[in-house]
Amino acid sequence: MRYLLYFAAICGALVVGLAVVVKFDSDYEPPKRELLRIDYDDLASQDAELSATTESVENEKTDSVRVEEKDADKISESLGEETEKNTVDNKYDDNSDSKSDSKDFFIADAPYTRLKKVDDTSLVNINHRLGKSYEPNDLVCVYDYVDRELVTLHSEHTLADKDALLAFCDMMSAAEKDGVTGFYLRNVYRSYEMQEGLWAKRVRADKYYGRRYKVPLGSAYPGSSEHQTGLAFDILSVTSPEATENFKKTPNYKWLRENSYKFGFILRYPADKTDITGIKFEPYHYRYVGMTLAKHLYENGITLEEYYDSPVHWK
Ligand code: DAL
Ligand code: ZN
Repeated sequence: MRYLLYFAAICGALVVGLAVVVKFDSDYEPPKRELLRIDYDDLASQDAELSATTESVENEKTDSVRVEEKDADKISESLGEETEKNTVDNKYDDNSDSKSDSKDFFIADAPYTRLKKVDDTSLVNINHRLGKSYEPNDLVCVYDYVDRELVTLHSEHTLADKDALLAFCDMMSAAEKDGVTGFYLRNVYRSYEMQEGLWAKRVRADKYYGRRYKVPLGSAYPGSSEHQTGLAFDILSVTSPEATENFKKTPNYKWLRENSYKFGFILRYPADKTDITGIKFEPYHYRYVGMTLAKHLYENGITLEEYYDSPVHWK
């Protein structure tokens, strides 16, 4: 009889314990991620700190001539990047104002703060640059994660930020469920040196590249490319695999435009915001910013620059 009573007491305790756990679970709400804003004062002090170090800012304003031409060619060929041949930029050659500006202006001289830490929500552009030695710490190989039935890889050796890549894979599965297939993943992570190679190629094709005031660019100046974070994905389609504006005509672009924010991605360089981003329209360049911020930017129709009240400035 005594054992029966013990048994009943234990069963009772288990039932009460279970009820508490179930109640706790049903009340549980996942923590909402804070929208992290860059603390500009903090960045200013970081910059002061940095200029006091032996690393000279002048060294960071690396001109493309420092990249050996053959290395630059090798890099840009392997990336297969930026095949648009400066068509957008060259139209400014006829503009005499831009020509006279180009004598005094070099985009590398735009004011900037150096980012020491980067997270999903960081603004990276010509005014918020990464140092030559900045490398993301959670890079993985796309080959190990991407379902190649859904996505054709430009290079199996491409690296990407792990969380962003997982979100990308979820996004591709969702697109397939909606009947949109045939995506082509071009560049994701690019090192500072790779960006130098692309920049050098641009300058060889056009000696005034980056020297025309306010002209939106197709390649970011080394240190100012989001690709150095591993969070920027150039997503195209097998029907339009080149990194050009043609991609905007595809159903893949339409789907990404309407749905990518649900997976934490934003179209980073829209056609109507080139004066704010400083970068020409890139229908294929998506930046992972996390779901909360992506939804906010999408619903308000704003860029990262607008979110941080910091349109790109050259002087
Ligand atoms: N094409 C983009 C702007 C980059 O070079 O990062
Ligand atoms: Zn890109």
